[in-house]
Amino acid sequence: MRVPIVAGNWKMYKSAQEAADFITALLPKLTPLEGVERVVCPAYIALPAVSTALQGTPIKVGAQNVHWKTEGAFTSDVSAPMLKGLVEYVIVGHSEVRQYHGDTDARVNERAKAALAHGLKPIIAVGETVDTYRAGGTEAYVGAQIRACFEGIPQEALANIVVAYEPIWAIGTGLTPTVEEANTIIKKAIRDVLAELYGADAAQQMRIQYGGSVKPDNMKAFMQQPDIDGALVGGASLKVDDFVTLVTLAQEAKR
Ligand code: PGA
Repeated sequence: MRVPIVAGNWKMYKSAQEAADFITALLPKLTPLEGVERVVCPAYIALPAVSTALQGTPIKVGAQNVHWKTEGAFTSDVSAPMLKGLVEYVIVGHSEVRQYHGDTDARVNERAKAALAHGLKPIIAVGETVDTYRAGGTEAYVGAQIRACFEGIPQEALANIVVAYEPIWAIGTGLTPTVEEANTIIKKAIRDVLAELYGADAAQQMRIQYGGSVKPDNMKAFMQQPDIDGALVGGASLKVDDFVTLVTLAQEAKR
């Protein structure tokens, strides 16, 4: 049985103070919702405040990216050893990082390996453009992303990895694939490809999230799909009650 995981990607929202205030409001509502792994991913600047506020609670913290090197002349970047102790998870390969910072699958693979090498758990994000979607190329495209992003990652590491399927055209747009389409891609392009690479048992245990315009009114339907193990949420994770509702819906659907 895979434990569902709902992660809030706060993107470039909330100062350290706003993040701390948000946690104060969120914590009492989110704490009782057992059976779902709950993660918040603030901007780097807010990580120390959020990490301190969540110490000793069941709510976990994630970063939004990590550099592939341990240290060096990389102005503006943050390495895995720097994040260690502050976060348990780190998102790699988010489409906004791919788009605005030029990340390729090879780079995402390097970032994931760096995270793993320092005991952090990568949430590896993949997903197709609208053109690929319209052309019917999603399955092949996402399958190739998975192969490239997992290159050289050993099977022992899989328990510490989460995959997020996020169609680029669904992020922040209010558009989504149908829940059946999302489940099919997650099954065929992600779980089945992981089964080819690591064996059926390992693939069966992998947690795979859907992301892209997840809201309280569509969450239940996504969570009722058998291969969707949670959600990576942007906009709706910025509001306390919406995020609590999303986690509640995941809890109910996966009970
Ligand atoms: P959204 O973002 O929920 O606002 O569409 C999802 C994401 O970027 O992870």
